[in-house]
Amino acid sequence: MSRANLNTVCLLGSPRRGCNSDTLAEHFTLRAARYGAPVTTFPLSELHFSGCKNLFRCKSDLEHCAQADDLTPVLEAVSQAQVLVLATPVYFTNVTGQLKLAIDRFFSFFVPDYPTAKVKSRLTSGRHLVFLQTQGEPEDKYANLMESFSASFNGLGFDQHHLVRAWGVRNSGDIDQESSVLLECDETARRIYLDA
Ligand SMILES: Cc1cc2nc3c(=O)[nH]c(=O)nc-3n(C[C@H](O)[C@H](O)[C@H](O)COP(=O)(O)O)c2cc1C
Repeated sequence: MSRANLNTVCLLGSPRRGCNSDTLAEHFTLRAARYGAPVTTFPLSELHFSGCKNLFRCKSDLEHCAQADDLTPVLEAVSQAQVLVLATPVYFTNVTGQLKLAIDRFFSFFVPDYPTAKVKSRLTSGRHLVFLQTQGEPEDKYANLMESFSASFNGLGFDQHHLVRAWGVRNSGDIDQESSVLLECDETARRIYLDA
C-alpha cells in the first residue's frame, strides 16, 4: 500500500468547536487528504459515551468492547486506522476528559493476556500516533504529556509517535498567529504520508 493511502482517524478532544486544537487537527488532516489519505474525524464532545466500565468482557467472551454507545463506531474506525490523530487542549495538566474517556475504551484492543503477552494488541503494529496539543501555559509545561501515554499506545500498535504542540494559546483564534506550529503540522504530515 502506498503510504499516502494510510487510513487516518482523527479524534477532536476539545469541547470548543473550531478553536485552537481543532484548527491544528484540520490543518493536519487537510494536508493528509491532499496527500491522498482517507480521513474520518470524530468531534468527541458531540458524542454520548461513557468511559470504560471494566466489564472485562473484551477479555472474556468478546473480542471488542461490550459497551454500545456513540463510541462504538469510533472504536471500529480506530481499529482500522493506520494514523490516529488525537487533538487536545491541556485541561488541568492533562488531556480533556472527553479524550481520556475515549482512550480508556481503547483497553478493548488489548488481548486477554496483555500484561504478559509479547504481542499485546489485537491491532497490527507500525501504526502512527499524531498528538496535537494546545495549552495556555508556556513551553516548558506539559512537554511530556504525550510521553506519559507512550507505553500504552506502543502496546496497542500505535508505535510511531509524532508530537505537535502550541503553547500560550488560550483564546479562540490564538492558534492562527502560530505559523511555525501550523508549518510543523504540514511537515509532520509530509513525513508520515510521503517519506519512505
Ligand atoms: C477547564 C480548562 C482547564 C484548562 N487547564 C489548563 C492547564 O492546566 N494548563 C494550560 O496550559 N492550559 C489550560 N487551559 C487552557 C487551554 O488548554 C487552552 O485555552 C487551549 O488552547 C484550548 O484549546 P481549544 O481552543 O482547542 O479548546 C485550560 C482551559 C480550560 C477551559
